[in-house]
Amino acid sequence: MKKQYSIEEVAALFPEEALLKNRAWAKKVLEIWNEAYQRSKWDDMTEAWYNPLAPGISLVTHTRACVLGALGLVDVLEKLFGETCDRDVLVASCLLHDVCKIVEYEPTPDGAHKGSLGETYQHGFLSAFYAEREGFPEEVVSILISHTGESRKIPRSIEGLALYYADVADADFHRFLAGRELLLDKHK
Ligand SMILES: [Fe+2]
Repeated sequence: MKKQYSIEEVAALFPEEALLKNRAWAKKVLEIWNEAYQRSKWDDMTEAWYNPLAPGISLVTHTRACVLGALGLVDVLEKLFGETCDRDVLVASCLLHDVCKIVEYEPTPDGAHKGSLGETYQHGFLSAFYAEREGFPEEVVSILISHTGESRKIPRSIEGLALYYADVADADFHRFLAGRELLLDKHK
């Protein structure tokens, strides 16, 4: 039986949504998560895996880690170099970047595997589609498209770079802890 969530219950899973000054964006972010979850094969949003190469790591928790990690990076940039960025663009992008994964991966008896949509849609596309459809600006949509190594585009903003490196760091932490191949190994 698939668990149903109110928007308030989704907000409780992503407490960093409260950092968004643009409350209309916050509502849209939470609604997108609920819509993608409904479309997914998972019966509980918290049970969705982030990646089979990071066994047991929750997609929700990875998403939160990216928000906090990226904010840490831009905090240092601002404190030591005086460079600022649009934190609403950053937080919204971090919250939405992997929402597509809840549909791209499907549960199996012993974990998760990439489903047919994950095989045929480039990672990030569905996140960008939802964001574009809901009226998020190009600054956000372009980050969702470029946040993955699968993309021919790379991030061209402080917000996009902060998400990219926070995302890669969290990915390799969990791959390392699980004894799996690192994203860094691809550069060897
Ligand atoms: Fe991610």
